[in-house]
Amino acid sequence: MIREQTVERERAALMRNYGRYPVEFVRGEGAWLFDPDGRGYLDCMSGISMINAGHCHPDVVAAIREQAGVLINTSNLYYTDPMIELAEWIRDTSMGGRVFFCNSGAEASEAALKLARKHGGPGRTEVVALVDGFHGRTMGALSMTGQPGKQEAFRPLVPGVVHVERNDHEALRSAVTDRTCAVALEIVQGECGVYPLEDSFVRLARELADQSGALLIVDEIQTGMSRTGPLYAYQDVGIEPDVMCLAKSLGGGFPIGAITARPGVDEVFQPGDHGSTFAGSPLACASALAAARALDDAALQGHVRREGACFLAGLQALVDDGLAVEARGRGLMCAIDLPGTNAAEVVGTMLDRGFLVNNTSPRTIRFLPPLVVTGDELSSVLAALRDVLAS
Ligand SMILES: Cc1ncc(COP(=O)(O)O)c(C=O)c1O
Repeated sequence: MIREQTVERERAALMRNYGRYPVEFVRGEGAWLFDPDGRGYLDCMSGISMINAGHCHPDVVAAIREQAGVLINTSNLYYTDPMIELAEWIRDTSMGGRVFFCNSGAEASEAALKLARKHGGPGRTEVVALVDGFHGRTMGALSMTGQPGKQEAFRPLVPGVVHVERNDHEALRSAVTDRTCAVALEIVQGECGVYPLEDSFVRLARELADQSGALLIVDEIQTGMSRTGPLYAYQDVGIEPDVMCLAKSLGGGFPIGAITARPGVDEVFQPGDHGSTFAGSPLACASALAAARALDDAALQGHVRREGACFLAGLQALVDDGLAVEARGRGLMCAIDLPGTNAAEVVGTMLDRGFLVNNTSPRTIRFLPPLVVTGDELSSVLAALRDVLAS
């Protein structure tokens, strides 16, 4: 439910860029969100993969409380320890290189783009990205995003971005040249409807980047933090990026973004090249450290792989029974395509029944539950979905 006046007040006070679902939340715990009446909704979105550790994870809450009472922010003019500790954690769990902090996913994409442009120099200004890919909505990130519908009103964009279809090996081969400064991709394209890239395509991107001297940027903003099973989705593919982008669940719900680059490439940014007043604050980093420690956990990752496989099998059963046409997923990042264009309606009915899912297109429903969701809870999602699709 929504409290009286909430919709009117929102319409009068906020710009119209979001289409919100007709529900208001006042509290969260684990995989559940609660409306003002105390009704619980099983969250299968995690704030678009932003709260993988679950709502109000006790360690995240304790870390925020403790840090907020001590030091919130200082800007980057000074040294603070939580920032260094989080950077060490990111470095040591990924490619072993240094870290740059920012405040969101789009900012991480911007930082990666600027780093690649500086690394490439004046003769290498092109970026190869993927059709349907999503890297954020600020101008550089939007330019890498391969979705004309989101770009149209904002042209001219940053020039030099070439988009190729996912898994089109030949198109990728011809797109990467000695003018390419970076190849940018998500291991599983999330925003467009959960399309895992073929491992061989990602490996080809790695090879072509190596051959041409371009950087491979892997956007783990949605796939990272154990969403697909491993801590970072690239770890299951057997390649290493030159640059990795993180945001969303890194912060445990608190805004933070980061890029890390492999040793050598992590020296591209020099004083004055890039920065952010807020970024790397003790508060954001304390929250992120608590979330990171909760998510970098072999037992949890095993749970994600097991329950993800089971959930995907359940979605596939809906396909086998003719209620849907395709199921896709990796770990707890899944989607199902419907035979018709009624996905928004199905999402609405699921909401009425107390399940939060979203549709990425008129045909596609996406599932991104907090990783602490139980097998029984996921079974209840499948049962409700079957019922809704069959009716
Ligand atoms: C893969 C990917 N990159 C970048 C972004 C942008 O992140 P933010 O909304 O924090 O700017 C998103 C957000 O959905 C994303 O899924």
